[in-house]
Amino acid sequence: MIRLKISMKFLMGENPIIQTSRLILRQWKDEDLEPFAKLNADPKVMEFFPAVWTLEESKASMQTARTHIEMHGFGKWAVSLLETGEFIGRIGLEEIDFEAPFSPNVELGYRIAYNHWGKGYASEGAKAALEYCFRQIGLKEIFAFTPVLNQRSQFVMRRIGMHHDSKGDFDHPKIKEGHHLRRHVLYRIGYQDWQNDNDIGKVR
Ligand SMILES: CC(C)(COP(=O)(O)OP(=O)(O)OC[C@H]1O[C@@H](n2cnc3c(N)ncnc32)[C@H](O)[C@@H]1OP(=O)(O)O)[C@@H](O)C(=O)NCCC(=O)NCCS
Repeated sequence: MIRLKISMKFLMGENPIIQTSRLILRQWKDEDLEPFAKLNADPKVMEFFPAVWTLEESKASMQTARTHIEMHGFGKWAVSLLETGEFIGRIGLEEIDFEAPFSPNVELGYRIAYNHWGKGYASEGAKAALEYCFRQIGLKEIFAFTPVLNQRSQFVMRRIGMHHDSKGDFDHPKIKEGHHLRRHVLYRIGYQDWQNDNDIGKVR
């Protein structure tokens, strides 16, 4: 596993914020909708989803994320750059919303605007989200999945220490039979493995 060295802090309060060396993961603001809808309408970003999203779909997804964060203290957070405040995408965890052998449980997801790919932001934010959910929320296991074809997403999963559970690979029930994106890989990481990988408890 390639270790990502990140410095991170949690700013607790009514709306906890995760800060890494370059990113802020936070609750959504109304003004995030425009750049969020823009990235969801970008065919390059949405290559491994059945379709690009309409403005209404982005709005609904943003509202779902907001409510999830309010209810559970974690969710798919809005991500902005620490230095400039620019909104660049979303990263975080949400309850899995379909039936599967590995649900009910939570899944990690990330989606970053195309002009910010290749800078390590997704891995940096996802690693911080894992740490937050294991340490502050007390989750025991975290899952991630993506179409077999989505190699970039799987690089992120491996980079942050998740393991491919090939026996768990599955056909996504929300994608129709025969569709080239239906087959998904399943990745997971348990608290113990994460703790061992991160040497929590040792002076860092
Ligand atoms: C999946 C996705 C978030 C990955 O973005 P990404 O920028 O490739 O991922 P990372 O943040 O890990 O960045 C890694 C890249 O940054 C480079 N990099 C540059 N600076 C870096 C740094 N400081 N730290 C780590 N990597 C760095 C790496 O070398 C790597 O480059 P490469 O792509 O040429 O191999 C992005 O492709 C995306 O938004 N896709 C659409 C949505 C999607 O498919 N989501 C997944 C569904 S679960």
